[in-house]
Amino acid sequence: MIDRIIDTNVEPDEEKELEVTLRPHDFSNYIGQERLKQNIKLAIDAAKKRGEPIDHILLYGPPGLGKTTMASVIANEMGAQIRITSGPAIERAGDLASLLTNLTDNDILFIDEIHRLNRSVEEVLYSAMEDFKLDIMLGKGPSARSLRLDLPKFTLIGATTRTGALAAPLRDRFGMIHRLEFYSPDEIEKIIMRAAGILGVKIDNEAAAILATRARLTPRIANRLLKRTRDYADVNGDGIIDTTISTQALDLLEIDTLGLDPADRLVLTAIIDNFNGGPVGVETLAALTSEERSTIEDFIEPYLLQIGLLERTPRGRKVTAKAYKHLGKARTKTVPDQPSLL
Ligand SMILES: Nc1ncnc2c1ncn2[C@@H]1O[C@H](COP(=O)(O)OP(=O)(O)O)[C@@H](O)[C@H]1O
Ligand SMILES: [Mg+2]
Repeated sequence: MIDRIIDTNVEPDEEKELEVTLRPHDFSNYIGQERLKQNIKLAIDAAKKRGEPIDHILLYGPPGLGKTTMASVIANEMGAQIRITSGPAIERAGDLASLLTNLTDNDILFIDEIHRLNRSVEEVLYSAMEDFKLDIMLGKGPSARSLRLDLPKFTLIGATTRTGALAAPLRDRFGMIHRLEFYSPDEIEKIIMRAAGILGVKIDNEAAAILATRARLTPRIANRLLKRTRDYADVNGDGIIDTTISTQALDLLEIDTLGLDPADRLVLTAIIDNFNGGPVGVETLAALTSEERSTIEDFIEPYLLQIGLLERTPRGRKVTAKAYKHLGKARTKTVPDQPSLL
């Protein structure tokens, strides 16, 4: 697989370390998402007043916008312990049962990619979330008995890229459901300056502004771009990131002025060249571009929709006039059916 700067997944080790170093620990360092922060702060204050854990929270939105970070900020602000796991990591109901019974009151259980929990595990969660009870079956067949165990009063924080992929009974058990929004370029610039401060990277304001407009309005990508640009500055300059260095580094990474990488451009071009701008279904798009359907849906599409290059219609995805212009493509008019002269 090619090394994509806008890759959906966190790359192992090196990148994980970067994420941990740069992850804000409290609300004051968590830039942007003002409405989300207000809501969560209110819930935390209320819970503290009542001496209870906060309601279960579902966070959703494209990768890299700060869901995991928000979960750890919440834990920190609550003075609670956080246990981090993910949907695919909990294979059987028994795995979840042992996770739950090992919690203590006020603990936060964070389940990333919660839409990928399997059904039998999900069912155990229902009574755990609602009544703090664990139903377990003892034995098999006619002699089987079920047993109810009390669980500590914990808070579940779930994260997902799509709420649509979540079963309704699970979704309904969250007291709060919040969508993370793309950041403004100004907020991304602040995130870049903050990261540069922590990493000791020298970058001027104009260069930070350039990176900010090309980071897909996404903190993870902003941090990644900063790191790559620093590497470029170390090798090709004196280590200082200015406008020239940042522009050259971004060109080398094939990231254009709107933050699109070759995969984004391929998606748009495929719709234009093969379907005259669309509409086209996501399965067809996946086949045409050899991308996973989930990569298109979770990662490529949300940003293209956000900046108005793509439109979602009931019949599929359509490219907008802005996309034609950005790619320098001429719009071929569809000629209305004319009666044949022959
Ligand atoms: N609001 C924010 N302010 C500053 N940095 C942020 C913010 N949100 C995310 N980040 C940075 O982006 C990285 C990715 O965020 P993360 O929470 O892992 O995203 P998600 O879980 O939504 O995929 C974090 O390591 C953090 O450094
Ligand atoms: Mg995450």
